[in-house]
Amino acid sequence: MPSSSFDFEYLRELVRQQSGVVLEPHKDYLATLHLGKIADQAGFESIAPFVESLKTTPFGDRHLQSIEALLTGETFFFRDRYPFEALQTYVFPALIQSRSDRRAINIWSAACSTGQEPYSIAMLIRDCFPELSTWKIRLIASDFSQKALDQAQQGQYTNLEISRGLSPAMRDRYFRPIGQSWQIVDEIRQMVEFRQLNLIRPWVALPELDIIFLRNVLIYFDVDKKQAVLDQVQRHLQPDGYLFLGGGETTLHLNSRFEVIHNRTSLYHRLRSG
Ligand SMILES: C[S@@+](CC[C@H](N)C(=O)[O-])C[C@H]1O[C@@H](n2cnc3c(N)ncnc32)[C@H](O)[C@@H]1O
Repeated sequence: MPSSSFDFEYLRELVRQQSGVVLEPHKDYLATLHLGKIADQAGFESIAPFVESLKTTPFGDRHLQSIEALLTGETFFFRDRYPFEALQTYVFPALIQSRSDRRAINIWSAACSTGQEPYSIAMLIRDCFPELSTWKIRLIASDFSQKALDQAQQGQYTNLEISRGLSPAMRDRYFRPIGQSWQIVDEIRQMVEFRQLNLIRPWVALPELDIIFLRNVLIYFDVDKKQAVLDQVQRHLQPDGYLFLGGGETTLHLNSRFEVIHNRTSLYHRLRSG
């Protein structure tokens, strides 16, 4: 598809309004890279007339597809390692004690992309906490992008995706080769409840959460959106729950109800008491 100049400002505004993600002005190459195929499939000879058609038609599937194509879905298994070490060493042992009456734990992976994050949590639970197999563990995973969620739900990963973050032993325990890809075993797949959820809209039908993974998504939002999302986190997190953000993210200057807990190599957030 020939490249011609297109209205990137319109796309930036579309993405910001619908998802909260602020694309930097020089990221027009992303659109050149990712929208060509969508424009082609929609019967346009280049991106420019495709974008013009988005501007003049009511919001629909093509808008959504274009936004999804412009969001960064970078993720991998056991990303950054430390949050998962914290789950294993502190968080689950503490919750197993404090929730021993109701024997239920609610976990949410709030921008799960193609599923590596929630599946990492599920594998960790199976590997390290066999006693939880008789508990009611709800592991909810959501994202803005239905395309990412479709792959997540399917649980199929390429050789490259599977090699990022997973040891061969873990891979062989929880995945089966199919052709050039790897399929996650049903036992792990069925532990995760996938659903579409837009973080910048009201969050409906979420239970009170003991653990929230909200990682590598706030970095893309402006300050107002970060604050609004953290306010909702505050309302949905149990008073003694745990919030994990990405390495470059913080609650500092955004929501004073959270305090940062440093535990050896790991760092997470909890609500201040009182
Ligand atoms: C960089 S990925 C992070 C994936 C995973 N949490 C991790 O840390 O590896 C960011 C994800 O945020 C999602 N996202 C962006 N805006 C969102 C919104 N408003 N609501 C829900 N998800 C959003 C994107 O679709 C993408 O899958």
